[in-house]
Amino acid sequence: MKPHRIRGVKKSAGRLAGQVALVTGGAVRLGRAIALALAREGCHVAINYHRSAAAARAVVGELRAFGVDARALRADVSLPAGARRLVRETLRHFGRLDLLVNNAAVFFRTPLPLTTPGQWDRILAVNLRGPFLVSQTAARAMRRAGRGRIVNIADVAAVRPWPAYIPYCVSKAGLVMLTKGLALALAPQVQVNCVAPGAVLLPADASPALRRRLRREVPMGREGDPQDVAAAVLFFASCPRYITGQVLFVDGGLTAT
Ligand SMILES: NC(=O)c1ccc[n+]([C@@H]2O[C@H](COP(=O)([O-])OP(=O)(O)OC[C@H]3O[C@@H](n4cnc5c(N)ncnc54)[C@H](OP(=O)(O)O)[C@@H]3O)[C@@H](O)[C@H]2O)c1
Repeated sequence: MKPHRIRGVKKSAGRLAGQVALVTGGAVRLGRAIALALAREGCHVAINYHRSAAAARAVVGELRAFGVDARALRADVSLPAGARRLVRETLRHFGRLDLLVNNAAVFFRTPLPLTTPGQWDRILAVNLRGPFLVSQTAARAMRRAGRGRIVNIADVAAVRPWPAYIPYCVSKAGLVMLTKGLALALAPQVQVNCVAPGAVLLPADASPALRRRLRREVPMGREGDPQDVAAAVLFFASCPRYITGQVLFVDGGLTAT
């Protein structure tokens, strides 16, 4: 595809030179790693944030250091107006959208007897309705352009139930089905694929015992690195157009056990 030049930004090189990506939840942790990996390949990047305004500003600086254009856009992806505005502002600023990475999510413990309907709704709204809403709007622009790619970030929890995290697991299982449904609905113009990481960046309060157990269970004997996940996203961002509706587990072999 012909690279897109943005005024005031020097010509970038790399696998994705001149393309434009939108990464939801791109200000911190895995989303930040994905955004930086895309920029390293010459892709202009809009990162979406919800609460992490300062982190988002810092990441924009890091992205621009790769010679690409970057922008931080605040939106709650679970709200229809927020999701629409996010895509509209990306298109207004960059003039195109080649890749959407649905990375934003919430993750917290929900033991069965204590889970409230509000917690259920919140997790499903951010983790599943959000990707649906952002994809729905992005797909319109991508279809008009005749091509585009969507990559959803799920979790091994989509296929390995954790009893203390049922709503989260359900949201990620739904995201896998959303991937397949969108892949069919949007073919042949738009490719839709999914990356499902295992444990990569554990919550800061994860106990040493939990870390030891995870390492024991994972055939590769370690936690994943954010770069492992970013590499899988880069693959789907540049893979042959015949690949769509697929789920790539980046889990050190866990789902093979
Ligand atoms: N970390 C892991 O080991 C791991 C493993 C498997 C799968 N995953 C998946 O990988 C993705 C990233 O994981 P992570 O651990 O980096 O996540 P995280 O640290 O919990 O960060 C979540 C991101 O989602 C954003 N977010 C939350 N609610 C939002 C909303 N309503 N609207 C817009 N953005 C919202 C946050 O934005 P703000 O900070 O700006 O509010 C933040 O950037 C998630 O989809 C997660 O389920 C992670």
